[in-house]
Amino acid sequence: MKSELEIIGVEGALRLIRPSRIYKCSYLRAQAEGEFGIEGEQVRWFNIGTTIDAMAENPVRRVFWLVNGKDFIGEVSVTCLEMPVAPITYYCIRESQRGRGFATVMLRLLLPYLKELGYSVANLWIYHKNLASRKVAERNGAVADATDPSINIHYDIKL
Ligand SMILES: CC(C)(COP(=O)(O)OP(=O)(O)OC[C@H]1O[C@@H](n2cnc3c(N)ncnc32)[C@H](O)[C@@H]1OP(=O)(O)O)[C@@H](O)C(=O)NCCC(=O)NCCS
Repeated sequence: MKSELEIIGVEGALRLIRPSRIYKCSYLRAQAEGEFGIEGEQVRWFNIGTTIDAMAENPVRRVFWLVNGKDFIGEVSVTCLEMPVAPITYYCIRESQRGRGFATVMLRLLLPYLKELGYSVANLWIYHKNLASRKVAERNGAVADATDPSINIHYDIKL
């Protein structure tokens, strides 16, 4: 484990970091809150079963955590395989912290970093009924592919 926290971006008291064991207790507490998706459906945390070190060191599926002081708030992951498009595979805010703008900030801190890495577009697919997620993406400049009628809407974000 790296001894220093890898900070990707800062906004007020919020920091976007690479996963760190420093936040292990808070991360585990967040997972214990459960993860409720749309329509009350409970789904598993995406990275459950993956160690924090493995998450921090994976160069392909890069995971980032939003933290507030000592508290883990949420995570976002990006599959970094091919330039110039960075697919955002998933994001989630812990159940107790939703509706406070945190996902919007998390993405806002991530996007300049992806640009710095050399990507020119980030993309993501969002289930059409996931209005909260669509709002988060659209507030960060995501534009939907209006020609695609599928239930998962394809969005591009120009970096
Ligand atoms: C989607 C998710 C990441 C949003 O996180 P968040 O921190 O609550 O998002 P924000 O507070 O930044 O913004 C959410 C916005 O959607 C709104 N919203 C929340 N639920 C909504 C709903 N059912 N319908 C319409 N808008 C909704 C919020 O009011 C807020 O808008 P406002 O700031 O104008 O009030 C969070 O709900 C979550 O983790 N969901 C489960 C995992 C998931 O669906 N991930 C996305 C996969 S693509």
